[in-house]
Amino acid sequence: MACSTSSAAATNGQVHGTPISSAMEEVNDILPPPKMPLEPRGLAPGRGRLVGKRVLVVGGGQSVNSFDLNPPIGNGRAISVLCAREGATVVVVDRYQEAADLTVEQITLEGSPKAHSVMGDVSTPAGCSKILQESLAILGGQLDGLVLSVGTVGAPPLVEKGTAEYWDFVMNINLRTHYLLLQEALPHMEKRPEGGSVIAVGSVAAYLPSSPEPAYHASKAALSVLVKNVAYQFAPMVRVNTVVPGLIDTPMGRSSGLAIKGRNASAIPLSRQGTGWDIAYACVWLLSGESSFITAQDIVVDGGRVGTGSKGAKKLNAVTEVS
Ligand SMILES: NC(=O)c1ccc[n+]([C@@H]2O[C@H](COP(=O)([O-])OP(=O)(O)OC[C@H]3O[C@@H](n4cnc5c(N)ncnc54)[C@H](O)[C@@H]3O)[C@@H](O)[C@H]2O)c1
Repeated sequence: MACSTSSAAATNGQVHGTPISSAMEEVNDILPPPKMPLEPRGLAPGRGRLVGKRVLVVGGGQSVNSFDLNPPIGNGRAISVLCAREGATVVVVDRYQEAADLTVEQITLEGSPKAHSVMGDVSTPAGCSKILQESLAILGGQLDGLVLSVGTVGAPPLVEKGTAEYWDFVMNINLRTHYLLLQEALPHMEKRPEGGSVIAVGSVAAYLPSSPEPAYHASKAALSVLVKNVAYQFAPMVRVNTVVPGLIDTPMGRSSGLAIKGRNASAIPLSRQGTGWDIAYACVWLLSGESSFITAQDIVVDGGRVGTGSKGAKKLNAVTEVS
């Protein structure tokens, strides 16, 4: 597949300077344990929770790690697949056509004919506008749910860390694009008698600002506040919330685990990393009528890491120590 992110770069048998064999050992270390319910493994059947809804997922493809022979599902892809499994018509947007197409293919293989891919780059205002216009045309003007999963940990390899350019790149993809997409989508959703639900995918990086990626932390913290502001502006017709993933075993998570020393050595009370499906189930709940009194919230999906604080988590037995 042609798509890969900068942080996933693996060249000349090395991943971020780590030989591929060691990289794979680390990756194997962070696989979630097998004893999980069907839902976090993506194996539970749909229950019709989003029947009749039309949902747009931005960042619904998935990045690729060339070191990872058996990649887990990414957040955006899991969200798209689960929305379709629960009965929604889904438009999957990604900057890489092939990444979006693969998500649609997975949905189609599950038997849903109601998924569409759109290639679009959110990095410019014109790109954001084009994505929304094309998606609305496909959905016949009916947008019930919008999920902004698009995000980046860092900038492309040629952009030097610590520079203004690096800061701007991360802030643009993780924050400005969300502002632009919300600014255009929400007035449309607000006018519909049924209203709608919007989700931004944030990060516990907003609460635990201790990695060497200050722009990522700042962008995700600001995103949560932007969401709350927008939730206030567009209530009562549109609910707007942030789903806040912790350590999630996705291709992006695995790349970060290799790039940021100690990232995976965190104490997680529920004793495993999350999966893209864990994030997707939180999104399905927020998109459905089941959460109709919930807006302006951070829904933290992290196995209890933030809620218990690191001291509390360290006292528990069976804490996952991976890295
Ligand atoms: N994996 C984790 O541990 C973790 C933890 C906290 C938060 N998150 C957040 O979850 C979200 C998704 O993460 P993921 O792990 O599924 O990553 P991912 O890299 O698999 O998915 C991101 C998708 O966004 C697309 N994208 C990137 N830039 C784009 C652009 N300019 N225009 C259009 N599409 C673009 C990529 O091609 C990719 O398909 C991100 O917002 C990330 O910050 C992930």
